[in-house]
Amino acid sequence: MDQDKAAQRVKKLRGEIEHHDRLYYVNGEPQIADALYDGLVRELLELESCYPELASPNSPTRRVSGAVQEGFQEAEHLSPMLSLESLMTVDEIFDFDKRVRKGLVLNSMGYVAEPKFDGLSVELVYQNGYFERGSTRGDGRVGEDVTKNLKMIRSLPFVLDSAEHPAIGMLAVRAEAIMRIGNFEALNRRMMEEGKDPFANPRNAASGSLRQLDTRVTASRPLDLFAYDIMYADTIEVLSQMEVLAKLASWGFRVEREPRQCLCIDDAVTYHRELQAERDLLDYEVDGIVVKVNSRDHQAELGERSRSPRWAVAFKFKPRQEITEVTDIVVQVGRTGKLTPVAFLRPVDVSGVTVSRATLHNQYEVDRKDVRIGDRVRIQRAGDVIPEVVEVLKEYRKSSSQSFNMPEKCPVCVSLVFKRGAYHFCSSGWACRAQQTARIEHFASKDAMEIEFLGTKTVTQLVECGLVSDIADLYTLKRKDLLELEGFADKSADNLLEAIASSKYVQLNRFIYGLGIPNVGQHVARMLATHFGSFERLMVAIEEELLAIHEVGEEVACSVAEYFQNKTNRRVIERIRSLGLALSWEQVTVKRNLEAKKVVLTGTLHEIQRSEARRLVEERGGRVTASVSKTTDFVVVGDKPGSKAEKAKELGIRMLNEQEFLELVGVWGKGAVENIEL
Ligand code: IVH
Repeated sequence: MDQDKAAQRVKKLRGEIEHHDRLYYVNGEPQIADALYDGLVRELLELESCYPELASPNSPTRRVSGAVQEGFQEAEHLSPMLSLESLMTVDEIFDFDKRVRKGLVLNSMGYVAEPKFDGLSVELVYQNGYFERGSTRGDGRVGEDVTKNLKMIRSLPFVLDSAEHPAIGMLAVRAEAIMRIGNFEALNRRMMEEGKDPFANPRNAASGSLRQLDTRVTASRPLDLFAYDIMYADTIEVLSQMEVLAKLASWGFRVEREPRQCLCIDDAVTYHRELQAERDLLDYEVDGIVVKVNSRDHQAELGERSRSPRWAVAFKFKPRQEITEVTDIVVQVGRTGKLTPVAFLRPVDVSGVTVSRATLHNQYEVDRKDVRIGDRVRIQRAGDVIPEVVEVLKEYRKSSSQSFNMPEKCPVCVSLVFKRGAYHFCSSGWACRAQQTARIEHFASKDAMEIEFLGTKTVTQLVECGLVSDIADLYTLKRKDLLELEGFADKSADNLLEAIASSKYVQLNRFIYGLGIPNVGQHVARMLATHFGSFERLMVAIEEELLAIHEVGEEVACSVAEYFQNKTNRRVIERIRSLGLALSWEQVTVKRNLEAKKVVLTGTLHEIQRSEARRLVEERGGRVTASVSKTTDFVVVGDKPGSKAEKAKELGIRMLNEQEFLELVGVWGKGAVENIEL
């Protein structure tokens, strides 16, 4: 390809990728199969590497790579980033309205009410529609240049492309970088699994993730942006806040779907009440509403005070804090043996959720807040998710109260406790029932072995009655033993045994994750699987070998090596493998060889469950449909198939038995290993 052709193709690819990014990350309506999208990115990467002169800082390929920066440069904002006066009551908001009307010559005017996103405010500078740089708010005049990090956020448009509203000249958009609650919880789970301290709330998580010197870390954190203001524009003109929001949306920013245009201040009060009631249904944090005078002329007429405008205010929601009493402090033992003090509380309603416990994290935190049994405490749903104690109301403390200290022995198995960093640990590993339960529960969980019917209650029951004390025991469970347990009947026993048996066919990364090795979360497990490709190789890896893997630090390397050196762990793993575990690895299995294929399942499958079969098809790009038609690509026929098999025969559609299906999806059962092509 000559350079001109390449340049044209690169331009086209960039446009297409941006378009699909916008459909996926901003509108949430992808219109292209993942594989096709990956193909576009791959082609662009190849062209950019063959023709380095075509590289551009705004190419969508810049969203995926990352590097460590030495520090953040200062960045002066194009116009000051003001903050907002916070109001708490309806009376205050009426006063605001009076002030506004007094300040205007023509006092018939309208407001716009929007959610107040609880994140980190950023300025995004565009030159003729191309993203140039972005920065944090800092002191309002000068912030930190976080351009490279912002580029990792998929909902940030690199190019503002709108025929209706051309984005000419220089302009600065103000937006809030946020982390959605689901993503925040998942990130915190990952951090805790890796032995790191979780973030207190989504705002801290967003801020901590964006202000990272290593952009690879930012890239791995699911951040999002909501845009709400054009802070500066030297060429384009905007007449109102409603027009600002329309322009931002047409340029490809995510904006609030339903800003409320308010004819009078009462409408804003209604919006506040409605949004406060719906607050818990949103998947991002909103801590109030922002009420803005709509007309830009009116805004200019009102002007600003030293740091906040006279034409806009934040009308905050009631904080999600309540006061209650600590009835007990109980020490819980987790999967890794970590002891966590938990405050049991007199149940209290915190904006619609009954809170009856709060984590106290560790002894250090207990000491810092000086929480004692019997104390009256202010609690909050931090980030409005995990309940925690904010402070003790010491004036109510009884003189007889005593400070809390972690026990010297494990509260479950009474073996000795040791301290590592800020945390205490039980020293007896697999011998402690609490650890047994937590480890087995983790092993069976959705992101690990995904064993249906094996939730907390069942695991606790199995451990308590001594039927199971490690993960290998699961695979030797007998029907007759289960039937003796309370709550088990023929069907539930069969269901559980079937679910356990089918979990033997599992991807390597899931198994590694399921072992619950300290510091090995899903991401690290996947990396280990990618690097070693087989469990045998991982088991014998020495620390140096682990350290050589990009992204594996000393902590991870040490705990992986330590885990496999431990004799008990090795014995459990050897037993489990001798019981017929069949590990597969994605590089073989997740060839998307069923792209766009329509598959029908019929009859009983023996080696795997239906849900597993569906997952295998979907992971490979195919779709499982309920009925056979001319467009069905193939039918998987198990035992005692129904009318679907007959229909398939009639229509001449290809049929596969279970073994053939397993081979096709690259999950090797006990049968022959042979590649089936469709
Ligand atoms: S407008 C001059 N609109 O709330 C007007 N701010 O203290 C500037 N915020 O720092 C802000 N959602 O980060 C505006 N819809 C919204 C907002 C919003 C969140 C943040 C912003 C600001 C803080 C107010």
